[in-house]
Amino acid sequence: MPPVITRRRLLAGAAGAVGLAGAAGAAAWAGGLLRPDPQLVAPDADLVGRVEAARRRAGAGTVTATLTPRPVSLDLGGPVVSTWGYADTAPGPLIRARAGDLLRVEVANQLPADTSVHWHGVALRNDMDGVPGVTQRPIPAGGRHVYEFTAPDAGTYFYHPHSGVQLDRALYGVLVVDDPAEPGGYDAEWILVLDDWVDGTGRTPDQVLAALDSMGGMHGDGGGMGHDMGGMPMSGMETMTSPLLGGAGDVAYPHYLINGRVPAAPVTLTGKPGQRVRIRLVNAASDTAFRVALGGHRLTVTHTDGFPVVPADTDALLLAMGERVDLTVTLADGVFPLIAAAEGKTGQGLAVVRSGAGDPPPATARPSELDRQVLNTAVLRAADPVRLPERRPDRTHRLVLGGGMMPYRWTINGATFHDAEPLLVRYGERVRLEFVNRTTMFHPMHVHGHTFAITGTTGTPGARKDTVIVTPNQTVAVDLDATNPGQWMTHCHNIYHAETGMMINLAYRT
Ligand code: C2O
Ligand code: CU
Repeated sequence: MPPVITRRRLLAGAAGAVGLAGAAGAAAWAGGLLRPDPQLVAPDADLVGRVEAARRRAGAGTVTATLTPRPVSLDLGGPVVSTWGYADTAPGPLIRARAGDLLRVEVANQLPADTSVHWHGVALRNDMDGVPGVTQRPIPAGGRHVYEFTAPDAGTYFYHPHSGVQLDRALYGVLVVDDPAEPGGYDAEWILVLDDWVDGTGRTPDQVLAALDSMGGMHGDGGGMGHDMGGMPMSGMETMTSPLLGGAGDVAYPHYLINGRVPAAPVTLTGKPGQRVRIRLVNAASDTAFRVALGGHRLTVTHTDGFPVVPADTDALLLAMGERVDLTVTLADGVFPLIAAAEGKTGQGLAVVRSGAGDPPPATARPSELDRQVLNTAVLRAADPVRLPERRPDRTHRLVLGGGMMPYRWTINGATFHDAEPLLVRYGERVRLEFVNRTTMFHPMHVHGHTFAITGTTGTPGARKDTVIVTPNQTVAVDLDATNPGQWMTHCHNIYHAETGMMINLAYRT
């Protein structure tokens, strides 16, 4: 029976297979023309421009960069893979600005496919958010696009395509926004990006997605769990579970990387004993949360998702896809493994920290810190200057997370993205989002264009974040001020979940 074609589906069809995007509610690119829903604030509405103008800092600079997504050959430190990247290394170029600066980034698409660039975590103007089908046209193969926006808040961010499962290639890079007034208080800074890697090892991410999708048509054969899907071992929640997360992922990756390297050929970070190092840690993986620890050290978490927290000491921490933390460590004397263990999976990423003499750790190093205190960023508390002021929500939206492996389909409020009713909000409101997880897997839920405050579950004031882990049967409530008008994707940052439906539009209405 053919599916019922709704208006939304029709618009989505006209916009083509844009992936991680579509045409829900707000505005659809159809035939190359933006067709706004007059009830909703368009991505390029006057109000968007006025809010942007108010963001500019007097005397702000302009930071320019060029990104050239293209087919590349990457040496992961042994395995050489053909993939798509922003550079001949992963991650792509570091972009660095000061809070209030204008960023002007030209994207020259040399991929054989449409692409886009999303500025994850940044409260930017909606028409620069990089969601094809919603905030812009896709950038066609051979095309160019200029992103120009003010980055208002200091912090550790990253950028990636919002097109299909392209993030699961080497298409990611870090954006650091420095606070001109920050005291600093550290001697060195290391930027570390975690990733799960499959592309060029016999399967592309699109083939992984197709294999997951096809499991829906394989009823009665055991669900496709744990058997080999044409060279790519796939397993489901039966095997990839974690005591901290429940179902921890859908894809068993052949490699886990730190700064683009497999553990057999890790990057080495050097310092001196007694130095205080700030580590900016980004999880750019598509289907993997990492448990991170540095052998012989305690970690002090100072920021999450860019925003400062009341500093918290821990042995290890859990970092889901799309989350970031800034850590401070005081270096001991010697050689130490920094491990990012794939949570609930087999394998890990490794970086070597060297502040003295000694042999490098083996690729399989497993410091005991990993099995001591493991911090979930959701329990962190906001630092005073960034605490969201107390206010009763004007409106509460419940987002019931549903779906599963059989068929491979993930939903919010019972619908996949193209069929989902937008979550309506008005400019100026305090909005509460309640993420209710009715699945057996964890979902790192991400909201574009806003930094919410975690509410209720832990102490107040809850940490300011843009991505939060929601474990099976858990409800996580977050509050945000609707001060950034436009149409904002709200989705699971498991790229395969988002792509197969777990995404909804947080829509400002007029
Ligand atoms: Cu990094 Cu729509 O997200
Ligand atoms: Cu998910």
